[in-house]
Amino acid sequence: MLSCLRNRFLNGPINVSQTCIRQLYSESNAIPRILITGGLGQLGVPLAKRLREKYGQENVVLSDIARPTSVLLKQGTYRYADVMDYKQVQELIVNQQIDWLIHLSALLSAVGEQNVPLAMKLNIEGVHNILDLARKYKCKLFIPSTIGAFGPDSPRNPTPDFCIQRPRTIYGVSKVHAELLGEYYFHKYNVDFRCLRFPGVISADTKPGGGTTDYAIEIFHDALKNNSYECYLSADTRLPMMYIDDCVTSIELFMEASPEKLKQRTYNVSAMDFTPDELAKAIRKHFPKFKITYKTDARQNIADSWPEVFDDQNARRDWGWKQKVDLDLLVTKMFDFLKNGKV
Ligand SMILES: NC(=O)c1ccc[n+]([C@@H]2O[C@H](COP(=O)([O-])OP(=O)(O)OC[C@H]3O[C@@H](n4cnc5c(N)ncnc54)[C@H](O)[C@@H]3O)[C@@H](O)[C@H]2O)c1
Repeated sequence: MLSCLRNRFLNGPINVSQTCIRQLYSESNAIPRILITGGLGQLGVPLAKRLREKYGQENVVLSDIARPTSVLLKQGTYRYADVMDYKQVQELIVNQQIDWLIHLSALLSAVGEQNVPLAMKLNIEGVHNILDLARKYKCKLFIPSTIGAFGPDSPRNPTPDFCIQRPRTIYGVSKVHAELLGEYYFHKYNVDFRCLRFPGVISADTKPGGGTTDYAIEIFHDALKNNSYECYLSADTRLPMMYIDDCVTSIELFMEASPEKLKQRTYNVSAMDFTPDELAKAIRKHFPKFKITYKTDARQNIADSWPEVFDDQNARRDWGWKQKVDLDLLVTKMFDFLKNGKV
């Protein structure tokens, strides 16, 4: 009831049926007010959509430094927030009465290597700001990590949750930093820090942000346009991957898991693994004449230091993680979306 009153105060009147749903939900579980940073990227847009469906449009605030489309603006509250500006994010947390912080802003692996000073600022100083704000305002905090948090000295097939982590990209180094600092804040200050290490995330409706696994998205666009694709990774480069819907589900499940289920604060999650050659074969089931050629670039070195197969058995055991989409279904969904705009 309190949270309903709070929502009315913050967002003006909401209709009766929404009120009832919220009240029912809040009898067992207070509805969280959620802030997503870096929310206009590949993960943020679909995540906001899912969380708004679940917790109510008015309870999810999307923020970024980019300009939202008018379609996105109609879907719910959007605020400009630069995560390197402590006070700006602080103001948002206070004014919007935020309970959960989902911190997605980051420079990804390939673009990070092209601008190391910015990657250090955004991926490291940005995390410092967010961790401190989560501590100060007692927010539950989610920060994604990545397969890139492992390096050439880690076991690559499979890569377990706990093993040596010596990444060689600034992206990987900054993500290990976030994992360790988040866990430190959990032990020291009781911040409810939660972190999932994602594989390459594949989606059709948003542009990828400059990661090493982006080929697995570009290939679908080029298959439809040219019936061919030139791949910047070699044919046999195996990497773990996940469809966006599964990625969003994993965040939802993990954020809702009761704390006693969590035996650790950072978990690997995965759904499948494949090589460019295997993906091309799956695409040929739809387009038999599809051709793939290979011309490797600097991203090959990054991929060669990353896990090939991700061991996520702890996430499956502790809080029930399970993917729905395998390689064949992924290919079908991507083409369905790109051809007909449906998932
Ligand atoms: N996409 C993947 O395959 C993948 C895999 C593993 C982990 N992750 C992690 O998930 C998170 C989201 O990834 P994504 O693919 O959506 O990234 P993305 O690059 O698509 O989006 C990142 C967003 O951050 C915003 N941003 C940049 N500077 C900012 C600033 N100073 N303040 C606020 N926002 C700023 C950008 O405008 C962009 O919209 C990242 O932390 C990434 O490391 C992604």
